[in-house]
Amino acid sequence: MGCPAANPCYIARMNDLAGKHIVLGLSGGIACYKAAELCRALVKEGATVQVVMTQAAEQFITPVTMQALSDRPVYDSQWDARESNNMAHINLSREADAILIAPCSADFMARLLHGRADDLLSLMCLARPIDRVPLLIAPAMNREMWAHPATQRNMAQLSADGATLLGVGSGAQACGETGDGRMLEPAELLEDLIAFFAPKSLAGEHVLVTAGPTFEAIDPVRGITNLSSGKMGFAIARAAREAGAQVTLVAGPVSLAAPRGVTRVDVRSARDMRQAVQAHVDAATVFVATAAVADWRPSNESSQKIKKDGSGQAPALSFTENPDILAEVAQSARAQAGALYCVGFAAESEKLLANAQAKRARKRVPLLVGNIGPATFGQDDNALLLVDAEGVQELPHASKLTLARQLVQDIARRLRASRKTA
Ligand code: C5P
Repeated sequence: MGCPAANPCYIARMNDLAGKHIVLGLSGGIACYKAAELCRALVKEGATVQVVMTQAAEQFITPVTMQALSDRPVYDSQWDARESNNMAHINLSREADAILIAPCSADFMARLLHGRADDLLSLMCLARPIDRVPLLIAPAMNREMWAHPATQRNMAQLSADGATLLGVGSGAQACGETGDGRMLEPAELLEDLIAFFAPKSLAGEHVLVTAGPTFEAIDPVRGITNLSSGKMGFAIARAAREAGAQVTLVAGPVSLAAPRGVTRVDVRSARDMRQAVQAHVDAATVFVATAAVADWRPSNESSQKIKKDGSGQAPALSFTENPDILAEVAQSARAQAGALYCVGFAAESEKLLANAQAKRARKRVPLLVGNIGPATFGQDDNALLLVDAEGVQELPHASKLTLARQLVQDIARRLRASRKTA
């Protein structure tokens, strides 16, 4: 698979759905063509996929395609004699870890809502053990159908009945109109499904993350920056969202797509980043500063491009120290009172432990995460050293997303412990 916008390349293939059995239900809509890619993505991520199609879905994509991609015969009839007990609706729903309807048409939503059971897919959804087999819905329809009060009413009721509504995309539609109602992209649905299964260790928390480099302008076309790619911070934002937190990601200039479900604030300079952090930190319960903030900025930003004057002399630049965002936040009243848990990062090129310990003391944060800058900047994997008051813990070499998930679990454990003792 390529690297569409919603599927950031920094996330290495992880088999995040290994051991999961997904029933992928297709109802009738042009978005069925995306279900083929979704099926492939689920399989690639380690899931087994059983496809169930309505008659209408088969107008848009053939069962042959879906069988080839899922490596299993497709089911489309409640009278399927291949099942020895002739109860496909029971057998299929009992095996599933989740049923995902993608695309879910307006009509199929209405059928689900009314508990209709006159075709295999709706019958199977009705027959599923409601406490054990979650139902996830990826709607897909024309914008007027989406906005119609009947559809909105049906969505609210389905949600009240325990289904998980995954939302829709916005933009150009197959009918030629533009608006809300497109099915989410396969990579987005995949990310949502993986998040759905993740343990919710940060439920109720609000995590604020800084990521990437900053850019300190010299003149309108030049500036000082660094090699931070933002991958570690973006992975932490994703992992925190998977863990159930509300997440705000303040990102320096990077070309990564925001993780699903995360509020992104783009900034350029250290001072922009500080302002964005100040605007969001009061709502946060956890602050993770992964950004490689420039220590210095040119004291004067030239309003025009600085030209060579032919003398061979380089222009004299003077520098001013940037505000230390993490240190400021860590010294705020909320952080000091234990209402905001602060985590810093140290990107070092040598003496990682000693530098990380010194930085932890200097910034006055309970947890400082050390990594080797030149080895990690721009890479998809990393290794971390967690330094706290008790000592050091190593998170060995792994993908940044794996490490981010481990770190998030660790932060959740520390939060619980700090609240117990408070
Ligand atoms: O001092 P140093 O840049 O090595 O500290 C690194 C840690 O401090 C990181 O967590 C980084 O995000 C944060 N930091 C900051 N504002 C600065 C400099 C660093 O928030 N101006």
